Amino acid sequence: MQQHILNIIYMLGSVSFIFGIKMLGKPESAKKGNLIAAVGMGIAIIGTIFLYESNGKGLTNYPWIFGGLIVGTVIGTLMAKKVKMTGMPQMVSFFNGMGGACAALISLVEFNHLSHEADFTDAEPTHLIIIFLGLVIGSISFAGSMIAYGKLDEKIKDKTLPLQQVINIGLLLVILGIAGAASFGFFDTPNVLFLILGLSLLYGVLFVMPIGGADMPVVISLLNSFTGVAAAMGGFLYDNKVMLFGGILVGSAGTLLTVVMCKAMNRSLTNVLIGNFGGGSKSTGESKSISGSIREVSISDAAVLMKYSKKVVIVPGYGLAVAQAQHVCHELEQTLEEEGVEVKYAIHPVAGRMPGHMNVLLAESNVSYDKLVEMDDINPEFKTTDVVLIVGANDVVNPAAKTDPSSPIYGMPILSVEDAAHTIVMKRSMKAGYAGIENELFYNPKNRMLFGDAKKTLTELVSELKNI
Ligand code: TAP
Repeated sequence: MQQHILNIIYMLGSVSFIFGIKMLGKPESAKKGNLIAAVGMGIAIIGTIFLYESNGKGLTNYPWIFGGLIVGTVIGTLMAKKVKMTGMPQMVSFFNGMGGACAALISLVEFNHLSHEADFTDAEPTHLIIIFLGLVIGSISFAGSMIAYGKLDEKIKDKTLPLQQVINIGLLLVILGIAGAASFGFFDTPNVLFLILGLSLLYGVLFVMPIGGADMPVVISLLNSFTGVAAAMGGFLYDNKVMLFGGILVGSAGTLLTVVMCKAMNRSLTNVLIGNFGGGSKSTGESKSISGSIREVSISDAAVLMKYSKKVVIVPGYGLAVAQAQHVCHELEQTLEEEGVEVKYAIHPVAGRMPGHMNVLLAESNVSYDKLVEMDDINPEFKTTDVVLIVGANDVVNPAAKTDPSSPIYGMPILSVEDAAHTIVMKRSMKAGYAGIENELFYNPKNRMLFGDAKKTLTELVSELKNI
């Protein structure tokens, strides 16, 4: 009877994941979708704790289970409450790494059970394959996510070893070879598990270390799908439907996102997988230096230019998140519309530091979703745009992606803002963006620089517009 109730709970949990993921597809339903999936996961966990039985016996180690739940809940809640919007990508990477670590731990524990009960070489090869796959994928996801966390937090710099791709491919083949041989009983020592664990952690580090600016978004979604697949291996091991379902959903959603990201960044997935910096391009990692002069614009001149425009497109970037300027940006849009100016937002797929970063940010300030226009749809519109206001964006409007084969972002599709009649770049200095390269757009005769913190400058711009 208990097992039947548990199966129904697992089915409810799985259905809630499907609905939750579907609702994440649209900004207006995303919050509710997240909540529905979390409730589904909650009831699946509670159901397992109180109703799971094996050989007629339920769980007994409640102090450990509840101890772990309490510690995890307190740490997770504090981290989520404390994190700034600009720190979200790092936190997502960190939590993803924890998911990978959990999957790897499941494999370690299950292998331990096997080798204590009997000689592990007597176990079914399929059982061992699942254990090793969970260990390999989970450890790569953990180590890779920790490096990604360090890079997003600007604590770790890109590092490429000589013959990096050869080393990465070689290491991956060695790991798969050892795991395959161990699954079919070619190693008789249980210590092979630690060898596989160590090599997989090393591969996770080596695979993410060389990935540079434009390829980071791809690697983040790839690591996300790894964690899903590793969790699905746990579902196979325990014959736990909800874990299997959840893992497969995360794995496939992450894989689809990776493919979309690769397409958006014009990158080859194979190159990213083997840690090929600037994948697919002839990039040397150093862009050409730019000579010329920049021209600044005052707040009042910028306000006049925008007020007498027919169409203004705002390009939000990472700096908008840093300055927390989304609310005042929305106010600028409303003020311009009151003056009869048509306003749209140009959303680049990798603007900011996580997929959908700009959509989340602008949704927070109630910008209407139909004003957020994706890159492919807005690019043809720049020719008929009077002013493009670039707020804290840099790499996503850098023409080097189209014109400079030596640039690390060469090949990445960008917003063609230079087609507009005027561009105004709002940032604090001439410093580079995430990819660490100069931007030729700043020197374009049609461009003007408006230096300062985005929130402060936008506030001044709005009050100037109201006073003209
Ligand atoms: P970036 O190229 O990183 O440029 C952001 C700019 O914002 C900087 O040049 C900075 O210049 C400016 N800024 C920072 N704080 C500011 C403030 N308070 N007020 C005004 N400006 C400020 O951003 P982007 O154009 O959005 O491009 C995203 C980059 O991140 C891409 O290279 C992408 O590959 C990478 N990336 C994306 C993701 C995802 S999934 N979206 C994940 C990882 C990496 P100043 O310092 O001079 O102000």
